Amino acid sequence: MAPTDGVVRVAAVADIHFGPRSESLQPLLAHAAQHADVLLLCGDITNRGLPEEAEALAKELRTVKVPVLAVLGNHDFESNQHKEVTEILNQAGVKMLDGDSVEINGVGFAGVKGFGGGFGKRALASFGEPSIKAFVHETLDEMLKLEAALARLKTEAKVVLLHYSPIQATVEGEPADIFPFLGSSHLEEPLNRYEVTAAFHGHAHLGHAEGKTRDGIPVYNVAEHVLRAAQPNAIPLKIIDIPATQLSGTAN
Ligand SMILES: [Fe+2]
Ligand SMILES: [Fe+2]
Repeated sequence: MAPTDGVVRVAAVADIHFGPRSESLQPLLAHAAQHADVLLLCGDITNRGLPEEAEALAKELRTVKVPVLAVLGNHDFESNQHKEVTEILNQAGVKMLDGDSVEINGVGFAGVKGFGGGFGKRALASFGEPSIKAFVHETLDEMLKLEAALARLKTEAKVVLLHYSPIQATVEGEPADIFPFLGSSHLEEPLNRYEVTAAFHGHAHLGHAEGKTRDGIPVYNVAEHVLRAAQPNAIPLKIIDIPATQLSGTAN
């Protein structure tokens, strides 16, 4: 479908946990092609990160009529074959983002998986045992990759794909004990600094659908479970319009 004037319609879903025995994605893909200009898959795109799961997903996606951008989630790492999973999906035409950015019709997209650590003043600090420091550094690495990806974008409108949440508001509904494993405030910093237009994430299956960063940037939890809980009979896709305003003096 041709892009609507000045607007890029973004459809997003996360946590499809796809595998060979999963229900067909064709209704969802047809809906995305009809109502959106780009489809975002925000991690946990396979159930256990197995190449055969990625192959099954790739087969579904080969006929998709809109560009598909994706980030990996923790499930996609489970079998330590995430490189194979990424390659299979890249071969199927999916643009896999891991600190990468891409522009589509005047809107910039940047994606990373993200990681945990918790939110606000109680977030895990890089102190003590090496394993704690390694945990925090993993989050900081993801933050830096996101920063670098955003810095490369020349568009005014910027959309971020994550698997882990950048704010606490969209993990509310999950048990508070596991908040630190659902996201990190470090991921919020680049969203505010680069005045991102919108951010999408998943991972918090029982979380809240929408929230805002400290600076008011909208954050959408598009975990399939969250979308289905909100509208049980609808196709599980969050679709929003992003105004495609180009910064002056830059090319598309
Ligand atoms: Fe998930
Ligand atoms: Fe997850």
